[in-house]
Amino acid sequence: TTTIEIGMLGFGTVGSGVIDRLTRAADQIEQMQGLRLHLAKVAVSHLNAPRQVPLPIGTRLTDSIEAVVTDPQIQVVIEVMGTLKPAEAAITTALRHGKSVVTANKDLIATAGHRLVALAKERSCDLLYEASVAGGIPILRTLADSYATDSIQGVSGIINGTANYILSAMTNGRSYQQALSLAQEAGYAEADPTNDVAGLDATYKLMILSQFAFGQPLTVAQVAPVGITTIDATVCQTAAENGWQIKLLAQAQRHDHQLYCRVAPVAVATGRALSRVDGVQNAVALRSAAVGESCYTGPGAGSTATANSVLNDVIVAAQRLVRGTRGPAFNHNHQHLTVHHLDT
Ligand code: HSE
Repeated sequence: TTTIEIGMLGFGTVGSGVIDRLTRAADQIEQMQGLRLHLAKVAVSHLNAPRQVPLPIGTRLTDSIEAVVTDPQIQVVIEVMGTLKPAEAAITTALRHGKSVVTANKDLIATAGHRLVALAKERSCDLLYEASVAGGIPILRTLADSYATDSIQGVSGIINGTANYILSAMTNGRSYQQALSLAQEAGYAEADPTNDVAGLDATYKLMILSQFAFGQPLTVAQVAPVGITTIDATVCQTAAENGWQIKLLAQAQRHDHQLYCRVAPVAVATGRALSRVDGVQNAVALRSAAVGESCYTGPGAGSTATANSVLNDVIVAAQRLVRGTRGPAFNHNHQHLTVHHLDT
């Protein structure tokens, strides 16, 4: 058995889930992979804040990010702080110190992914972020591995659990405010839910999906997201009575060298696969030359499901450390498509 020393930044909803999954799966990972994943340090902003799960014996709590990302013993850093600026600096330092990094931070990967992937490549480190898109659905690895030689023509997804939860709850008679509070209590919403309801969180995820599906980076301005803040319970219920479900769809469609994209609330005919994706569920529907139509559904947010994606990335990073096959598993290629806003 090889022991891999791990440091974690953040101990919120996802961080608690990671600790829980690490603790429960430790023996199984050791038996199956010959790896002992040892969580050496966890950096938090408030040392005495109440915790959802106990800290494992032998894990140190610190209020210094630097103490984790520069610790010579630590080999893999998990970043689950859910903030942009401190996370960017922390991941940059960790990669510069030769550590592999696993993050769930879609804001960061969408906006600074190219720079960080290039840095990881330069330092022969891994940078993995499966949990950043669609929580528990392993969609990035599926795109990177299983569609490697296929040609994707369209991606259409419900990729914000909070917005989908709110829309489903409003269809079932809740008010917008009640539905948002429920999503926050369940730990689906971001600490500041503005990005969830404004369509920005879905936009970040679409930007990452576009990179994997089309090799094409997108900007927020190109997607020009429209959120769900103007939709109320009456809109959802009237739509449902007339055979439609309101869904916040993230779409990117390729036609030759053109890519049309948008994030907006769309009425989906009841009965179509995406109309049945309820609550915190996410779905990513793909259209490709070889496979044709396929759709991946599952939990898009929530502590345990998201933590499972994080843990799998940690195992991949640890295996690659042991085998000496270091370097980014997720490559960023550029296809140079012309990007347009998809108008209805
Ligand atoms: N706030 C996000 C969502 C969490 O609701 O989908 C998962 O990225």
